[in-house]
Amino acid sequence: MGLAFETVHQGDCVALLKKMDAGSVDLAFADPPFNIKYEYDVYKDNRPYHEYLDWTREWMGEVSRVLKPNGTFWAAIGDEYAAEFKLIMQNDLKLTCRSWVIWYYTFGVNCKRKFTRSHAHLFHFVKDAENFTFNFADPELRVPSARQLVYGDKRAVSSGRLPDDTWILRPQDLPEGFEADSDTWYFARVAGTFKEREGFHGCQMPEQLLGRIIRACSNPGEVVLDPFAGSSTTLAVAKKLGRAWIGCELSEDYAKKGNERLSNIVAGEPLNGAEDPLTSAPTTAAGRRLKSANSTDSTDAKDSATLTTNGKTRRFTRRAAAPKEDGQKEFI
Ligand SMILES: C[S@@+](CC[C@H](N)C(=O)[O-])C[C@H]1O[C@@H](n2cnc3c(N)ncnc32)[C@H](O)[C@@H]1O
Repeated sequence: MGLAFETVHQGDCVALLKKMDAGSVDLAFADPPFNIKYEYDVYKDNRPYHEYLDWTREWMGEVSRVLKPNGTFWAAIGDEYAAEFKLIMQNDLKLTCRSWVIWYYTFGVNCKRKFTRSHAHLFHFVKDAENFTFNFADPELRVPSARQLVYGDKRAVSSGRLPDDTWILRPQDLPEGFEADSDTWYFARVAGTFKEREGFHGCQMPEQLLGRIIRACSNPGEVVLDPFAGSSTTLAVAKKLGRAWIGCELSEDYAKKGNERLSNIVAGEPLNGAEDPLTSAPTTAAGRRLKSANSTDSTDAKDSATLTTNGKTRRFTRRAAAPKEDGQKEFI
């Protein structure tokens, strides 16, 4: 084995991965540059289409080579290359897709000429379709079911359950919409003002998201690889959860700061961020509202909001009706 574990290696991941033994990694999580002109310190995120795909094939090939025969490979990507990523992973690398998860996040960058981007794709692939780790019974992964929380249903399993382009104002208002066993996941992006923010990397992922992946797809003591470490979130979570870890990062500055972040972590520490993001922020009904100038209606304070555009005022009312017969709530 040419590369030491428990460190972020500075350099190009393709060259670094070539130094690793085949079949030495249990779980890889890759969050590469999305080729969307994002400003990193040294990497230029603006390659011609085919060059970016050829490079993707190359680094994915190396990740696949270093995975154990029962290994798991997660890759994050935006809309621009999601289709191409899936085809490379399944057709070129002959991996098997287990889940195509949509990560739905809040605090996306506000846009004026299109709808604000609020999701990324997370591909969950395995090398062997019959033999891979998926810890569905891990209590840390499980959440109370709607049968337990809402319906008082005797059929509810006491251990809970494992944790849509979805148009929704605030997920806090629809807790049934983001249950952890579905493949649309809600975690807020790590925005600039968040306590969790390390402050040296603009693409820092939430620890709780990585926690779900690492708990589900690896066991304590196993090896987790991140070929694009960035702020080293994957590795920080791997260390907290008692996994062995190894990372690559092109930027000298990010690699140094990532290693510093990791040296301050002790195995067993809790993950940053709310375990249940749906309850970490108030629901709209419980929120504070500015009294609008032209409102005469007392409901304006809690259950509705007014928007004024071009001199025209519209009021949006949230109404949580009594459960309908089929158990669905109605929101307006
Ligand atoms: C999207 S960021 C990763 C963010 C990370 N998931 C986190 O939570 O902070 C992608 C990273 O890949 C790095 N990078 C770009 N090209 C690379 C290469 N050839 N080898 C290794 N790292 C590279 C960039 O410097 C950047 O930090």
